[in-house]
Amino acid sequence: MADTIRWGIIGPGSIAHRFAEGITAVPDATLAAIASRTPERAQSFGDKWNVPKRYNAYEDLVADPEIDAVYVSTPHPYHAPCSLLAIEAGKPVLCEKPFTVNAAEARRVAAAARKKGVFAMEAMWSRFFPIMARLRQIVADGSAGEVRLVHADFGFRAGVNPESRLFSPALAGGGLLDVGVYPVSLASMLLGKPDRVTGVATLGETGVDESAAIALGYPSGALASLTTGIRVNTPHTAVICTTEGSISFPAPWWVPERMTVKVGRSSAEYHEPKQASGFEYEIAEASRCIRAGLTESPILPLDETIAVMDTMDQLRALWGVRYPMEEAQ
Ligand SMILES: NC(=O)c1ccc[n+]([C@@H]2O[C@H](COP(=O)([O-])OP(=O)(O)OC[C@H]3O[C@@H](n4cnc5c(N)ncnc54)[C@H](OP(=O)(O)O)[C@@H]3O)[C@@H](O)[C@H]2O)c1
Repeated sequence: MADTIRWGIIGPGSIAHRFAEGITAVPDATLAAIASRTPERAQSFGDKWNVPKRYNAYEDLVADPEIDAVYVSTPHPYHAPCSLLAIEAGKPVLCEKPFTVNAAEARRVAAAARKKGVFAMEAMWSRFFPIMARLRQIVADGSAGEVRLVHADFGFRAGVNPESRLFSPALAGGGLLDVGVYPVSLASMLLGKPDRVTGVATLGETGVDESAAIALGYPSGALASLTTGIRVNTPHTAVICTTEGSISFPAPWWVPERMTVKVGRSSAEYHEPKQASGFEYEIAEASRCIRAGLTESPILPLDETIAVMDTMDQLRALWGVRYPMEEAQ
């Protein structure tokens, strides 16, 4: 494997710009190609970020022997097909969140990656910030006590557009998969897989969840209380309540640059600003794993991504949110 990982992007839409900015802060990674079905987009994105190769078919990018890894940033229903396309071509994959539409798809992608022996990871970018590494260490060493409650939210008020990625059932719309996945994943990182999953949601005119209040229970007795939505602004904060104090993140907690750890009467502040868009940390981790010959990241293994999708499947089943593409699965 080359010292510098040459990345290609499938689906250079709006979020792919943050990947392109982030990779500029990763010394041993470079953006070498993009693939868009829309030639003008390939051109304008490629010009903006000085991308040497531009393809008009996803198949052509994954077949390029000078591409070492693929970032998938298409809408949710195309995550599994695009990831599988890359994996079948033997290319490692970093795929946007949610990893897939449901757990069955996530299992298929994980099985394909394992069979082929290639790296795959969900691009849950917040998890790879330096402050999150510090949080995991504090939780593991118990210096702030044992985690008993995770309180986190991610909701914003978007205008209703039934055709859009956020509201269209055909594009697996709804708040849970788009932004609810962030607090669900945070709770998973801190507490593991819940053994009780419940919650209520308000569905909108297109039938997708527009706001939701989620409660998760864990075998240890710990709980998570999470809110999310695409029709309501929430505080965008996270507070982890422990037996000895609390660990809190100011808004927006999913760009975790600051953290306050309170233990008894003492309080410690941490501040580690991002270097670029914040995507640099997930790119660095995926590139490190690929160079080291790992097929999964220990920070976000595929089984954990599958467990997160399982939790979200259970919530959608409770709310009666089922997407058209799931009817055929
Ligand atoms: N990590 C984050 O902070 C973050 C933030 C926002 C979104 N996301 C995730 O990123 C993904 C993409 O979101 P986005 O807002 O960037 O989407 P977007 O701007 O709509 O871009 C979608 C890209 O996917 C391609 N695509 C392939 N098949 C498509 C289809 N049938 N319909 C529409 N587009 C299709 C588009 O096509 P071309 O081939 O024509 O270029 C385009 O380049 C979502 O899964 C979302 O959850 C992540």
